[in-house]
Amino acid sequence: MTGQERLPGAPFLQRRGAELFLDGVRLADLARAHGTPLYVYSRGAMRAAANAYSQAFDGRPHLLCYAMKANSNLAVLKTFADLGWGFDIVSGGELERVLAIGADPAKVVFSGVGKRAAEIRRALAVGVHCFNVESEPELELLSTLASAAGKVAAISLRVNPDVDAQTHPYISTGLKGNKFGVAHGQAVAVYRRAAALPGIAVVGIDCHIGSQITTIAPYLDALDRLLDLVTQIEAHGIAIQHIDLGGGLGITYTDETPPDAGELVRSVWAKLDGRGQGHRKLLMEPGRSLVGNAGVLLTEVLVQKRGEAKNFCIVDAAMNDLVRPAMYQAWLGIVPCTLGDPADPADMPGQVWDVVGPVCESGDWLGRDRELAVKPGDLLAVLSAGAYAMSMASNYNTRPRAAEVMVDNGASALVRHRETAAELFAGEQTWT
Ligand code: LLP
Repeated sequence: MTGQERLPGAPFLQRRGAELFLDGVRLADLARAHGTPLYVYSRGAMRAAANAYSQAFDGRPHLLCYAMKANSNLAVLKTFADLGWGFDIVSGGELERVLAIGADPAKVVFSGVGKRAAEIRRALAVGVHCFNVESEPELELLSTLASAAGKVAAISLRVNPDVDAQTHPYISTGLKGNKFGVAHGQAVAVYRRAAALPGIAVVGIDCHIGSQITTIAPYLDALDRLLDLVTQIEAHGIAIQHIDLGGGLGITYTDETPPDAGELVRSVWAKLDGRGQGHRKLLMEPGRSLVGNAGVLLTEVLVQKRGEAKNFCIVDAAMNDLVRPAMYQAWLGIVPCTLGDPADPADMPGQVWDVVGPVCESGDWLGRDRELAVKPGDLLAVLSAGAYAMSMASNYNTRPRAAEVMVDNGASALVRHRETAAELFAGEQTWT
């Protein structure tokens, strides 16, 4: 079994004998110490992923902004801030996280299709690097609010380049039918409007075509479309200082083979150089590729139920902890934390299970048709669970959100305590 086991997240995620280790820490020990469900993130894996981008950008003008929607735990954010990264945020709440860790708001890009006035005011007050504006009404509002505050807002327009990122429809964002960005055909007119507004300073252009992209071609197509626009916009005397290519690469969940960050960045620079645009400052906002395979979700097997059509392995993690399977039919690896002893008759031979949670929904599943040799009380690790997992967790069924632990080279720290039921209804009251 050890030989065939696929472990995305290696070399930080490793099987040593029967035991699964992340960044030098035995996962079963963490589950025993902190309980389950439990998220565990490797700081070493996150640093390695970030450095792959940073090194590829070395020597070129750039700003790397971690898209914190992927995983916004403060300890995760601090890991990237310490490496000099800025942040891509999409809400006032995410901005408060930047401030809470003492990171530099001047390295923040504020994305998002619907920004509230209060969020904009706060971002103006702390001085973010750039607002990635998604519509003309947003531009007008931003100008008004900036002028009222005696400021000028640096902006980039998110242009919808209409390229197919060939990813899941829910996470494809750069097509004409998506709600995001300003249409390519309207971009020049909106830039001219921006240049005329008193509270606005145009600094860049941006796009984001989707997530879990596993080839380079869609990025280069989008860049070509942006560069065509840059020429047209600058012909109107409006300078574009930076180009922001949006999110980062996809990751390996099962058999995907995405290029590495270096390959992507080198291809992008080659395209810029080829078009005589190598002097431009480049921004990127990777999320998933920095954290996805740095994390696992640990869960305990509660009950096994053999049905007429299916066998169910009911675990203590559920769709509220990790919604990606239910929401996108996402496939995540599921492996035992400790392999059973084949010589021990108490250890069941492998059987095919649907791994499901306790939530009252048929859509509450983590993996379907998985061959696993497990019994109640055993621990499983759901792999590739560092991105869009805890950050999308909910309290459905009044389930307290999982605790989070960070590991680094054999050491571990609890970076978020397990919620209590009392915390969940602390803001509520009865009405008599
Ligand atoms: N920048 C913008 C403007 C974005 O909208 C996103 C992701 C990113 C950057 C980061 O993209 P990444 O490097 O992570 O691909 N919940 C979905 C993914 C939604 C992604 C939304 N935008 C999932 O679990 O697959």
